[in-house]
Amino acid sequence: MPNVVIVGAQWGDEGKGKVVDIYTEHADEVIRFQGGNNAGHTLVVGDEKTILHLIPSGILHPGKRCIIGNGVVLDPRVFIKEIENLKAKGYMQDDSQLVIDGNVHIIMPYHTNIDIAREEKKGDKKIGTTGRGIGPAYEDKIGRRGIRLNDLIRPDVFARKLQEVLPEKNFYLEKYLGKAPLSEEGILEEYSGYAETLKKYVGCSSTILGKSIAEERNLLFEGAQGALLDVDHGTYPFVTSSSTVSGSACIGSGVGPRCIDHVIGISKAYVTRVGGGPFPTELLDEMGDELRNAGNEFGSTTGRPRRCGWFDAVALREAVRTSGLTGLAITKLDVLNDLESIKVCTAYSYKGEMLEQFPRDFEVLRECQPVYEELEGWQCDISEVTKLEDLPQAARNYLDKLVELAGCPMVLVSVGPRRDQTIQVSNPFLQG
Ligand code: GDP
Ligand code: IMO
Ligand code: MG
Repeated sequence: MPNVVIVGAQWGDEGKGKVVDIYTEHADEVIRFQGGNNAGHTLVVGDEKTILHLIPSGILHPGKRCIIGNGVVLDPRVFIKEIENLKAKGYMQDDSQLVIDGNVHIIMPYHTNIDIAREEKKGDKKIGTTGRGIGPAYEDKIGRRGIRLNDLIRPDVFARKLQEVLPEKNFYLEKYLGKAPLSEEGILEEYSGYAETLKKYVGCSSTILGKSIAEERNLLFEGAQGALLDVDHGTYPFVTSSSTVSGSACIGSGVGPRCIDHVIGISKAYVTRVGGGPFPTELLDEMGDELRNAGNEFGSTTGRPRRCGWFDAVALREAVRTSGLTGLAITKLDVLNDLESIKVCTAYSYKGEMLEQFPRDFEVLRECQPVYEELEGWQCDISEVTKLEDLPQAARNYLDKLVELAGCPMVLVSVGPRRDQTIQVSNPFLQG
């Protein structure tokens, strides 16, 4: 105790990796519970940068167990490369530091091929997915034809399941998407090699965490993507294919909701989004470019330039409600250092009406215009500040405004990518 869930409170890339890495010091176990290698979580320790796609962001701390929960979809090719990179850097020297739930669904080559070909076919109507096969893998999970890690490590079961599913996938690839079919033998050969490597990590997330909860150990759940990319509560259809809100931590790891004590939402001091979909405060002018350059807003997974815009309190309030946030971590405040004045969206205007809540009807959302309040900038470098009281008054006023609009207390402020560029206001692990 306590157990803490970290989720993105915007459209992803809020700095979840950095915050999870910082909180891992207080945790015994760090658990990923949804998404796959569409995620790109960046950790910066000293001058060394590590980007993780699948492995929980606690992995740089020796002795802290990292668990990939049942709700994740796992691409073995990416996973194995990630392990190799970490080991080459001197991390994860002990394989028992990592456990993968046997019921994670495996991303197969047809999932990635279908994802990419579908986007191609959709042309300008595409979602702008990461092309990592995430949607097609979750479709198969829900459609009850997925292949799980427990299947992969049993050669006869894997061969049987592949034999059942591949003709349908090849039919779709060839006849509908106009792409080459995949060879069963090729997949069997390649994936049996992965099974050998993955075997030693297989375990049961629910059983391990159940025991941890009984022993009152501290759990840290690491969300991927962000609240507005949630398949139910996000800007559908421009969303990812998993549940990204905090409730997903329970389903994707096999624990009950009563064990969660705190839910921390991560939000940038402005907003970014990668891929298509509505984004009311998007800046398509020079200011957008300025934020992108100052914040180095290029995707950690695909390298795509991120769309940038002003802080959106209406969208954040949606995350506060759908994830039941108990605390807010505001990141990348330093990116606003040079601005003379900063805008904050407090409400939307829709056909002359003021909306304080995020419209859950896409047709309404697309016609909303942001209503802004303008605040004074601080125009100095805050990237080495480690105490709230040492921030310039204008920066404090800005944070106070965000907190007031969000209706949620602030627990942390990040002023740079490094671990030590952090202002801890109230650590949830030290609150009981
Ligand atoms: P995640 O997906 O939520 O873990 O976020 P990403 O790692 O995709 O993107 C966040 C980016 O911002 C990374 O490059 C981080 O190193 C960087 N970052 C995190 N916090 C800060 C901060 O406070 N200031 C600045 N300038 N960069 C930050
Ligand atoms: P982290 O965990 C930002 C976006 C994609 C696309 C949509 C669907 O690093 O915050 P998908 O490949 O999931 O089917 O793509 O979701 N997306 C992300 N955007 N950060 C992420 O992860 C994302 N994961 C998916 O850009 O718009
Ligand atoms: Mg990211």
